[in-house]
Amino acid sequence: MTKTMFLPLLLLHQSTAAASTSVSTECTVSTMDDYPVPVRREVYGDGRIFDISHRYTMDMPSWERKDGLGRFLWLPASMKNGSLANNSLMKLPTHSGTHVDAPGHMIDRYFDAGFDVDTLDLEVLNGPALLVDVPRDSNITAKVMESLKIPKGVRRVLFRTLNTDRRLMFKSEYDSSYVGFTTEGARWLVKNTDIKLVGVDFLSVACEDHMVSAHLEFFESREIILVEGLKLDDVPTGIYNVHCLPLRLLGAEGSPIRCILIK
Ligand SMILES: *[C@@H]1O[C@H](CO)[C@@H](O)[C@H](O)[C@H]1NC(C)=O
Ligand SMILES: *[C@@H]1O[C@H](CO)[C@@H](O)[C@H](O)[C@H]1NC(C)=O
Ligand SMILES: *[C@@H]1O[C@H](CO)[C@@H](O)[C@H](O)[C@H]1NC(C)=O
Repeated sequence: MTKTMFLPLLLLHQSTAAASTSVSTECTVSTMDDYPVPVRREVYGDGRIFDISHRYTMDMPSWERKDGLGRFLWLPASMKNGSLANNSLMKLPTHSGTHVDAPGHMIDRYFDAGFDVDTLDLEVLNGPALLVDVPRDSNITAKVMESLKIPKGVRRVLFRTLNTDRRLMFKSEYDSSYVGFTTEGARWLVKNTDIKLVGVDFLSVACEDHMVSAHLEFFESREIILVEGLKLDDVPTGIYNVHCLPLRLLGAEGSPIRCILIK
């Protein structure tokens, strides 16, 4: 598995010449035979930039699966087998790991009308954001939302919950007891706040019992963007600039997304 996971990183480094130069100067350690080894980081720029996307692995949790995401990467063309270059092939459910939902995810008429991830507003996905801690003894209900006292004008909020403490995104087995929004909690947010970007720390913004109804509260206006499966461990609460970029997957109602927070 480690070998499989190693390959995309190598490819990435090859394709970003500038980045790989800086990686090899400031971030490599030497092995016994002095061959450079990439160092994987969660924080960059002396603690200024936090990577809040999860690394895609075979073991990461996947919707209602007991045994994790499973294999999603192959190497059909490899130098070892005589190809000019290594070229990996990827097959991944669009709602895997850290990902974004488009309105077509649960509203069929929006799907048919083409409201896919390519139509999501990059202005909503990028800008000042608040990282808050949610009380650990509850799902995100209307009462919890009210207690958070998020000021008007705040447009992007990342909600850290019990899911982070329980490290649910690091467990292969999908755990349906995760914390998420209830229908009332979602409705309260839509009606009483200016929040347009909602980020959560497990695969769904809605708790299991309110799966469809809570999503619908968010999707209906097509103004709110949901980012799910964020990695919010070890990031202090507070105000940041968030940067989230989905892939331009035409026709897809979900996409893997890379999100970072900058202090
Ligand atoms: C190409 O893929 C092979 C596996 O077939 C791997 O051992 C090798 O390190 C890769 N080469 C490069 C340059 O990435
Ligand atoms: C090379 O090709 C062989 C035979 O098709 C295959 O079994 C093997 O997995 C390939 N190796 C790599 C690294 O692609
Ligand atoms: C949140 O709701 C789910 C069911 O949707 C439940 O299993 C879980 O225990 C609840 N969590 C808390 C902290 O109340």
